[in-house]
Formats: sequence, C-alpha cells, structure tokens
Amino acid sequence: PNSEEQATLEAYQWLSKLYHHLLGHSKDGKKALAYLHERGFSDEVIERFQIGYSPTSKGFVTQFLENKGFHKQVMANAGILTTSDDGEYFDRFQGRVIFPIRNHIGKTIGFNGRTISDQEPKYLNSPESSLFRKSKLLYNFDIARSEIRKKGEVILFEGSADVIAAHQAEVLNGVASLGTSLTETHASLLRRYVDTVLICYDGDNAGQNATYKAIKLLRKVGCTIKVASLPPNYDPDQFIQEYGKEKFQSQVIEAADTEMTFIKRYLKKDFNLNLEGDRLQYVEKVIEEIAILNSTIERDHYLRELAEEFKLSYEALSQELMSRMRNVT
Ligand code: CTP
Ligand code: MN
Ligand code: MN
Ligand code: MN
Ligand code: MN
Repeated sequence: PNSEEQATLEAYQWLSKLYHHLLGHSKDGKKALAYLHERGFSDEVIERFQIGYSPTSKGFVTQFLENKGFHKQVMANAGILTTSDDGEYFDRFQGRVIFPIRNHIGKTIGFNGRTISDQEPKYLNSPESSLFRKSKLLYNFDIARSEIRKKGEVILFEGSADVIAAHQAEVLNGVASLGTSLTETHASLLRRYVDTVLICYDGDNAGQNATYKAIKLLRKVGCTIKVASLPPNYDPDQFIQEYGKEKFQSQVIEAADTEMTFIKRYLKKDFNLNLEGDRLQYVEKVIEEIAILNSTIERDHYLRELAEEFKLSYEALSQELMSRMRNVT
C-alpha cells in the first residue's frame, strides 16, 4: 500500500476504537447504546463487533484525527471526512451508530453507519476506495471463517445487522454483501471455502429478487444452494428479535428449501395457475430452469415433481427438456 492508504488504514483503526469508546462513554452515546439494546443487541455482541457511535458534532472526529497528526485532505480523499464547498472539513458519520467493516484479517477498512434519528440515508457507508471495495468484500468473513470451514456452509445475509443478530442467535457462519448485490468475485471467494451457500435475504420483494440473482451467480461457480424463507415483512434481524433464536434456527435456517423449490415459488408469482394458458407458460418456465441444473439426477427429480404437480406426462416434459438442453449447450 502507498502512504495514503497506510495512513487511511491507521486512521480507521483509531476511529474504530474511538467510536466504540464513545458509545459507552459519552452522553450522546448512551442514546445510541439504548437504541442498540432496544433492537435486542447484547453487550456481548456490541463488544465482539466493536459497534460504536459518532457524536452529533460537526468536528469531533475531525479534531481527533488532526490531533493524531493525520492530514485532513488525505482523510477526506479516503471518505473518512467530508468537505464543504468552501473547503471546510466535517465528520462524515455524525449521529450514526457505527458498524466497523473489517477485511479478511480483521482490520477495519470502512464503516457502515446507521442513523438513530431518521436521517437520510438510513445507512451510510464509507465510499469505495482502493482499501474498501464492496464488490470484493464480505462483511464478517474474518469472524465467520472458522465456522464456515467447520460446517462446510456459509449463510449469506443482506446486512450487518442481520449478521450480528444471527451471531447472537448462535448462527456463526454468516456474512453479508453490504447493500450491494452479490458479485462474481464474492461468489468465487465463497466457493473456495464451501460447497454450500444458504441464502437468507429479507422476505420482501427486493430480497426475493436479489435471491434469484444470487442463485444464478452461485450456480456459475458450482455451489450447492439453499434458500431460507422469511415471512414477507421480516428480515433475519427482526425475525430473531420477535421469535427468538430457537425458532430462527429450526424454522428458518434448518428449514431452508432447495434452490429449485425457491425458484418455483418465485416464478409462480407472475402467473395465475387457475388459468390453463398461465399454467402451461409456467411449466415451460420451470423446464427452462430445470434444463440448466448440473446434475442428471436433480433434473430427473424436478421433472417428475413437475409432471406430478400438473398431471402432465413425464415423457412429454422430458422431450421438452431435451430440446431446451440442446438450445443451451
Ligand atoms: N446497506 C448498506 N448500504 C445501503 C443500504 C443497505 O450497507 N445503502 C446494508 C445495511 O447493512 C443493512 C442491509 O444492507 O443492514 C439491508 O438493508 P435494508 O434491508 O434496507 O436495511 P434494514 O434491515 O431495513 O435496516 P434496519 O434493520 O437497520 O432498519
Ligand atoms: Mn468495549
Ligand atoms: Mn431490505
Ligand atoms: Mn433488512
Ligand atoms: Mn433490518
């Protein structure tokens, strides 16, 4: 790394400590701590994940960095500070709870800052830089790595809050692609460690769409994919808060569906299966999905299931599948 990157990295370690300290030891921070407790985060995970708070002050952090001898312009270039039009420097994360984002060796390389007072945006991230590339980074990979190895499985969440809530619920092999969709780089990285990826995104439409996209990517790298489904208005963090860890483990994680079960349910939303025309279109869609499965056994299994479900002849579906497969290869 060049000297600017070195300084930035060093500043991130200092700030991470400062923010965490302020959460427990400032008047303003107490509000943030109460907010975290209210959300169900324990002191143990607040400690483990070094959650912090940036005070509602324009210059507290700026002053701190200046006292430590960091150049404000370098900090602004790295997105740690913000500049106004007339060249003044400001704290970037004012009034936000700070989730430090660590790289694979546990060094803080960015912040995920959540407002506790309805500021927009709800989450503010550190900007992209040579140190912090969201397309390559999986949040919590450093802490989860040994459990991922042990289980041969990784759980993919949407955000830091979900990963931390899951950790508190003793589901320790979770990572997140922070506010960006999963990339090919993420997928290949995961594939190096595991065979199986369990996707556990939010239950809303955005989460479902992101799940479908992630499946396509993870297939390309040859992962076995499972999908956990949450009720429409829940995300993992809310589910755990409301129903507790046992239900999260047994009804969400252990009850995960196969990718094809998810895909069938997902595609069904676009059709009215009471109509014959829709039914046939839906069946063709599902056959397209079956055609791109890697294993013959799986293809056969899902084809039989489909024939059964719609009282169609297995032979006819089989022929349809063959013609699709000639088209894809
Ligand atoms: N996220 C992010 N940057 C964004 C938007 C989201 O990093 N611009 C991350 C956050 O870590 C967030 C996650 O993506 O936890 C999921 O986003 P969303 O579902 O919109 O957050 P909520 O679950 O609604 O956030 P919260 O539970 O804090 O209310
Ligand atoms: Mn502490
Ligand atoms: Mn969401
Ligand atoms: Mn969410
Ligand atoms: Mn949430």
